[in-house]
Amino acid sequence: MKELIQQLLEQTVTALKQQQVLPEGFEPRIQVDRTKDKAHGDLATNLALMAAKPAGKNPRELAQLIVDNLPASALVEKTAIAGPGFINFYLNNDWLASQVEAMASSPTANVKPADKAQTIVVDYSAPNVAKEMHVGHLRSTIIGDAVVRTLEFLGHKVVRANHIGDWGTQFGMLIANLEEVEARGTDAGDIELADLEVFYRESKARYDSDEVFAERARNYVVKLQSGDEYCNTMWRKLVDITLSHNQAVYDRLNVSLTKDDVMGESMYNPMLNDVVADLKQQGLAVEDNGATVVFLDEYKNKDGDPMGVIIQKKDGGFLYTTTDIACAKYRYQNLNADRVLYFIDSRQHQHLMQAWNIVRKAGYVPEEVPLEHHAFGMMLGKDGRPFKTRSGGTVKLVDLLEEAEQRAQTIVAEKSRDLDAEQQVVAAKAIAMGAVKYADLSKNRTTDYIFDWENMLAFNGNTAPYLQYAYTRIQSIIRRSEVDVANLQQAISLEQDAEIALAQKLIQFSDAVHNVANKGMPHMMCNYLYELAGAFMTFYEACPILKEDVAADTKSSRLRLASLTAKVLDQGLSLLGIETLERM
Ligand code: ARG
Repeated sequence: MKELIQQLLEQTVTALKQQQVLPEGFEPRIQVDRTKDKAHGDLATNLALMAAKPAGKNPRELAQLIVDNLPASALVEKTAIAGPGFINFYLNNDWLASQVEAMASSPTANVKPADKAQTIVVDYSAPNVAKEMHVGHLRSTIIGDAVVRTLEFLGHKVVRANHIGDWGTQFGMLIANLEEVEARGTDAGDIELADLEVFYRESKARYDSDEVFAERARNYVVKLQSGDEYCNTMWRKLVDITLSHNQAVYDRLNVSLTKDDVMGESMYNPMLNDVVADLKQQGLAVEDNGATVVFLDEYKNKDGDPMGVIIQKKDGGFLYTTTDIACAKYRYQNLNADRVLYFIDSRQHQHLMQAWNIVRKAGYVPEEVPLEHHAFGMMLGKDGRPFKTRSGGTVKLVDLLEEAEQRAQTIVAEKSRDLDAEQQVVAAKAIAMGAVKYADLSKNRTTDYIFDWENMLAFNGNTAPYLQYAYTRIQSIIRRSEVDVANLQQAISLEQDAEIALAQKLIQFSDAVHNVANKGMPHMMCNYLYELAGAFMTFYEACPILKEDVAADTKSSRLRLASLTAKVLDQGLSLLGIETLERM
């Protein structure tokens, strides 16, 4: 809708250039905003204020010229010039109603598909092997998955890339220790991940204290890297245990990742020699004290000299950065990515910038293919400090999800007494996972956020339970109406202010989806859904549906509006990976 007005204004600017009212090279960024007060129309632009100087006219005078040259359009009922030279647009209700009709009859709520379907690689989740997934991986997983769903919904081909930490020298000690555990008679498959954490710490302790063990571990690192079969089998066991544990968390959270999406660090290992050789050959990497280093003019060290990024150590080992260079190259050259999104916490920003700087200089990924770091802040406790257990340890994801379900069960037992025990369990699960995910998704991801149980599980405010409840409530209204809403032929008519406001909110859905896809920011969808639910509540108060004195036509029209609202809430929440409930 905004876009449509923007297009009209673009045409107007072109016309005014032809008439020499505006100078030839003038390319304004046309801004169209929703008005705060509906008395001033639905949308407004400050174009005349921005263009007044280049045009050499006073803003109101220019505003009039813009209005006079605006192409005729069915969506604009009338325009008005306001204040110092704002132009207000009043939208046409018939047009609005036709848009709402189109949404109601479209299986995808009339969301405009992407102009061009792209191949988009999304790097997210990325936990580490032999380590428990912790809350730090939660944000990447949840935000990344919402964006993935949104991109696919718009018709893009998405490659989910779970860049797990499955390679490195730590595997030497892990293999050496696994060998001892197996010698004692425990099968690798019996080691649970909770034990694997303990196992990791035990391996480290053995490595630090026992020279014979450490020697064996170092030997295994070399063997593993040269493709030794025994070491490879042992490594595979450790990876598999971790993956099955992670998969259980993904499934529980309704995250769309599967084992097939794993593209861990180890996958790039065979490519690293060639990458280093090529960077040397291109003159980008040089030998420096036995290591191979790329010096970047864009980054200065503390002496003001170009910063050196090591890509191969003296002992031949590669680094996290080397892997990310090879990885970006692979995503473009082998996966044919048109765009690559990385959901990684903001502390890794410099790392990515350096890796990509090298990638661009080496010509591995052309400038037209964006490499985007969608950074996010930390999850903090209520005290504003990094989220920790009471004893100060990192909170395990499984424990967190367990607690969420328990809390939700208490709430459901209290609020949803008409549900039988089984329904209560289903509702509690959906509410718990929805609450945890939504609490994260609804905040602008670039900032840290405070994890607060009471807030996220509240039934009012911008929370998952509030939106889930709004959906359930509409379903209940429809059930009580005893009307087959899907087959209603009655046209939607928009008369009351609250009906118009709801319709205007409904048709913004497509913009909300596109915003999330373009910016990688799911909180834009959350805000939209929250406003939609609010518009529905206002509508439902002002425009009764089930009362006896409501005329049949009006009732049908309102039922269709309600049903469309439910459809959009359901679709929007499902793009966020959050389930709705028919009853709660
Ligand atoms: N495994 C890493 C960590 O836990 C995150 C990997 C992110 N992806 C990447 N391409 N570097 O910090």
